[in-house]
Amino acid sequence: MAVPFVQDWDVVQTLGEGAYGEVRLLVNRQTEEAVAVKVIDTSQAKECADNVKKEVCIHKMLSHSNIVRFFGHRKEGPTVYLFLEYCTGGELFDRIEPDVGMAEKEAHRFFQQLIAAVEYLHSIGITHRDIKPENILLDEKDNLKLSDFGLATMFRHKGRERLLNRLCGTLPYVAPELLGQTEFKAQPADVWACGIVLTAMLAGELPWDQPTDSCQEYSDWLQKKTYLPPWKKIQPAPLSLLSKLLLASPEARITVSDIKKDLWFTQTCRPGGKQQPDSLRSANKFLRSDSGLISRANSDDRMQFSSSQPDPGSMWEAMLLIGQADGQVSFSQPAKPEHMLLGSQLVGTPGASQTPWQRLVRRMTRFFTTVDADASLAALINICKNQALAFKQTCTNQVTVSTLDKRNNKLIFKVHLLEMNHRVLLDFRLSKGDGLEFKRLFLKIKQKLGDIISTQKIPVPVT
Ligand code: ADE
Repeated sequence: MAVPFVQDWDVVQTLGEGAYGEVRLLVNRQTEEAVAVKVIDTSQAKECADNVKKEVCIHKMLSHSNIVRFFGHRKEGPTVYLFLEYCTGGELFDRIEPDVGMAEKEAHRFFQQLIAAVEYLHSIGITHRDIKPENILLDEKDNLKLSDFGLATMFRHKGRERLLNRLCGTLPYVAPELLGQTEFKAQPADVWACGIVLTAMLAGELPWDQPTDSCQEYSDWLQKKTYLPPWKKIQPAPLSLLSKLLLASPEARITVSDIKKDLWFTQTCRPGGKQQPDSLRSANKFLRSDSGLISRANSDDRMQFSSSQPDPGSMWEAMLLIGQADGQVSFSQPAKPEHMLLGSQLVGTPGASQTPWQRLVRRMTRFFTTVDADASLAALINICKNQALAFKQTCTNQVTVSTLDKRNNKLIFKVHLLEMNHRVLLDFRLSKGDGLEFKRLFLKIKQKLGDIISTQKIPVPVT
């Protein structure tokens, strides 16, 4: 029996961008179900179509609570659409404050869930090969979801393991044997990447550009100089686990089954050590209520916040406050994914108009200005010029900025200017490069634009 209107899916927002294409949020007009769709243009390269086939083949066989669900795919000419579980909590990297990290307790829970995902993958002979905070999403309950199986491959089949030889992944997360040996085991390399993610969560920085002897930070780690950052910011118990995760020898490196026996990993009471600052704790609380099912019970919580932007010390809180709460809206995942596959209307300009859905999709890298769109654009361009950042106005309300980060890696992001409630929102989105470096540069630009950043209180609309 036909279900009326169920085919009407609206493209609500661009969630992310990468070399492959974009991920967009689709919301069903009638049922209000939300799904993410990854749009891949396979016309760029011959091997691209094969890679997508492999991604689909692997992702569709996965079923685990810490892995993004795959609902199905659809091919239209050279474009392939992958329909995925929508993770309302955004990327893990948005929870990492540069040079600080996050509360140890939160990192502990995320790490346990990451290891659960990796254990599951390895148990069915699959390796992810690109574990990093940008590929780790969070749902409305802050449950971790490993995503992006574009580089995943099978390393065990019918009980027979094969060694890998392809150098792939992201350099700061890559295990040393990938750079030094022609063949290597799959599982220890994923374990290493989990160690780098844990370091990023606990210290807010990546320990090295790449694990080679020519890299000073890596040599310092091999010489156990843990009095240096990032290690000196990390408590002894998690640091002890890190020293086993980041062992240079893949044979000596801790296995997933031994990670599960580690003292820090197994501890159930609140891990001691670094306390999250008050400002961040309340900011995260806001983020959680903002990014998931908003109930009347916590709408009181939301009302406690004003949208003024306080001192730079509570910058993250300020950024969250700007994206103030909307009314009571809830997302649900599709009960019948086939409905979505039948009639998705993959049209519309992401980010062009503001719907309640859109307003729920919060990013920390945005702020309102006190001036009109032309003046906001002029101020942004002026900063790009002063900071020697290459920029290009890609359309009237969008600027693409490209530069090199401190590691000489490409960093490209887009700034969308959106008129909202008679004010101008500058929304920064990473296109290419390291997420933490992007955040650092965002904070620098935001500080330089201080004069025109709105400190006005925004009334909290209740719909
Ligand atoms: N960004 C990339 N993939 C996503 C997803 N499945 N949900 C939310 N944001 C995303």
